[in-house]
Formats: sequence, structure tokens, C-alpha cells
Amino acid sequence: MSKQSQWKTSTGFILASAGSAIGLGAMWKFPYMAGVYGGGAFLLMFLVFTIFIGLPLLIMEFTIGKLGRTYTTAIFGKLSGKKWTNIIGWSGNLAVFVLFGFYSVVGGWIIIYIAQVAMQLVGLGSGTLGSIHFDQVISNPVYTIIGQGIFILITMVIVMLGVEHGLEKASKVMMPLLFVFLILIVIKSLSLDGAAEGVRFILEPRMEDLSMQGVLFALGQSFFALSLGTTGMITYASYAPKEMTIKTSALSIVIMNIIVSLLAGLAIFPAINAFGYKPEEGPGLLFKVLPRVFEQMSFGARFLLDFPLSYSYLRALTSSISLLELNVSIFTKNDNRKRTKVAVIGSVLVFLISIPATLSFSSLSGIHFGAGSIFDNMDFLVSNILMPLGAFATTLFVGQLLKMKDLEKVFGRDRLKLFVPWYYLVKYVLPVVILLVFVMQLFK
Ligand code: PHE
Repeated sequence: MSKQSQWKTSTGFILASAGSAIGLGAMWKFPYMAGVYGGGAFLLMFLVFTIFIGLPLLIMEFTIGKLGRTYTTAIFGKLSGKKWTNIIGWSGNLAVFVLFGFYSVVGGWIIIYIAQVAMQLVGLGSGTLGSIHFDQVISNPVYTIIGQGIFILITMVIVMLGVEHGLEKASKVMMPLLFVFLILIVIKSLSLDGAAEGVRFILEPRMEDLSMQGVLFALGQSFFALSLGTTGMITYASYAPKEMTIKTSALSIVIMNIIVSLLAGLAIFPAINAFGYKPEEGPGLLFKVLPRVFEQMSFGARFLLDFPLSYSYLRALTSSISLLELNVSIFTKNDNRKRTKVAVIGSVLVFLISIPATLSFSSLSGIHFGAGSIFDNMDFLVSNILMPLGAFATTLFVGQLLKMKDLEKVFGRDRLKLFVPWYYLVKYVLPVVILLVFVMQLFK
């Protein structure tokens, strides 16, 4: 975010930060994770974590941003007077870098999907969208590397030109449109054979289906979808207008995130039986099921949906732009002469680390260790290690090094007198809870 892209209104701020936070996490990762780790029980854990841990943490990150108003690699030191605390900012930026590496793999799949829709629209593609075998697509190393290269390139050009503010404005239209499209798809999915079973799968919490691993991944999902522990949201708040209200902004983003996740689940799971898929399809779930649903739509609706859906998939781009921008901004420090160079170097590095991630669905699919494939390990490193650790360190920072009265000033007054409970939650409860979940993961 360049300095000129300060948002003028609180709504502008909410839309911009929602544009960054609500992306593939809610639309792609939530259904895929819920499918593998217990459906309704996973959803329940995700909701509990998002509301009781995610929301207070988001408020915490917004508070730090609004208090410190500078780069994430300087903000911690500036606020506490202790330079070493800036390490939290650096670790957040490392998380963002690795995250962009595997995010762009999925971004590449989207590019391939859009190319296929476009070819079919002009009569060049053969067969129908639903007949495309997604597994074949992602197991083609050349296609996928080109796809992700294009995805990173588009992100890079936008960041280089510094025009992301224009895109943020587009969020005003994109967010409501996303809701409309998702609702239309949900309606169609619900009308398919075997839909009730899918609805039960995602809504009914069968606790016996929840493993310890599922609990850990639900926490990771809450962090990922809200961009927590990466300092991303701190950066957004550091540019926010004075009148930005922290609690309302955080609550709006949490609610939008939950709605998009739920709608994505309700678009996918009810359709699974009709097309013979299983919930545990893994990372390809969204891409396998949705095209089949579109196929079922009458021509007019399909035409309308193929296109806009590709476009709402482009929401992934608003997140990836912020991912690159977060790293570019700490190295350019608003010196726009450095922007092109830093954006190019950053993108090339991301492209390099994303190649093994993409190949874990093809040539390198035999490599399995730790959390699974190379792709799985990158995701695990970010969502289950760096993000929780970043958030843990930030709660200690806020609870131990910042003054309660400074925090209270930016937190703002409210009728419910939420400051004190929020403060003690962040100071004593959340660090213990995050640490507990984190340690359980090491000994699972
Ligand atoms: N929360 C984003 C998503 O769900 C990913 C993200 C993480 C974006 C961290 C910016 C910073 O897609």
C-alpha cells in the first residue's frame, strides 16, 4: 500500500481490508479442509475459533496498526521502544512470502480455469467445462507453471504500477457480487440429487468425526482466512482513516468471512453426491465440483455465471496483490523509485518457491514428509506454525509491553464496556490457548 492509498472513509477501509483478507481462504481452503477434517464438526470448531480467538486477535492487530502507523518491520519497536520486537514483523513477512508461494499455485489453477472458460465461450475449447478432468490439469507441470507464472505476473504488474487502489475501489462492487453469485450457486446445488446428505455433512456437527488434527487445522483455517499473525491486517490499519472504528471493522470482516465460508461450503457439499465426488477430494475440491454445478444451470444462467465466477475467482488476485505489496512496502519504504525493482525481485523469488509447490501435484507428487506433499508442508508452515506463533508473540507484545491506557484510546469506548474483557483476554487467555493448541500439534 503506497501512502497515497489511504482510505478516506471507514467503509473504504473495511472494503480494502476485506479485499485482502477474504479470498481463497474462505472460498477454496475452507471447503477443502472441512471436507477432509470432519464436515460439520470442523465448521463448528472453525466458528468457535474465529469468533473467540480470531475476532479479538483481529481487533488486536487493528489496534497495533492504528497506534503505530508505520511499517510492520518497525512498528513493534516504535511502540515498545525495544527494537528486537520487530522480529515479529519480519516473521509475519516471511509467512506472507511463503503463503504467496503456495497461494499462486491455486491462483494458477484459476488462470487455467478462466482460459478454458474463455476458449469455450469463443468456441475453441472441446467438450464442456464439467468434462475437464481437474486432476489431469493440475498434474500437467507445464500448464500449471505457466498458469501460476501468469498469476504472479499480473499481481506484479499491478503492484509495480501502484494501481491497487483502483482495485480496492472495485471491491465495492466485487464483494456484493460475490455474495449474489455464491447464493445463486447454492440454490442450484441444493436442488441436485443427494443434496440433503451434503447439507447434513457440512452443517451437522458429528463430534466423533473430529480428530485432534482437525481441531488444529480448524485453528489454522481461522488464522489463514483472517490473515492473522502475518501483520497484514496491522499494515492495513496503519493506513486507516482516523475515524475508522476498530471493533466494527473487525466484526464486519469476521462476519463476511464466515458468510463466504458457509456459502462456499453450501455451494460445494450438496453437489458432491450428484457428481460422485467425495468430501475428501483435497485441494482440488472447489475446482472439480463447481464447474459440474454450472453445467447443470440453464444456458442463460450458465453464461452469466461462468464469466462472473471467473471474475469473482479474481478476488484471489486482490489477496495476492496485498501479499506482494506487504513485502514490497517494507523494502521500498514509500520510495517509489525502488518499487519496480523490489516488485520484480520479490515476484521472481515467489515464482521460484512456488514451482516445487505446483510440482507436488505432478512430477514431485512422490515426495511426502511431515504434513504431506511439498504444497501441504508450505501451507502447514504458514497456517499452523508461523501464523499462530506470530499471533502468540503479538499477544505477549500487547499484554506485556504496551500501556493499557494507550490501547484503550484507540480501542474506543462502547456501551458494553468491552475494553477490559478484551484486554485481559488478549493478555492472559489467548496466549495460553494458542500455545496449548500449538504444543499439542507438536506432540500429536
Ligand atoms: N486471508 C487471505 C485469504 O483468505 C490470505 C492472506 C493472508 C492475505 C495473509 C493477506 C495476508 O485468502
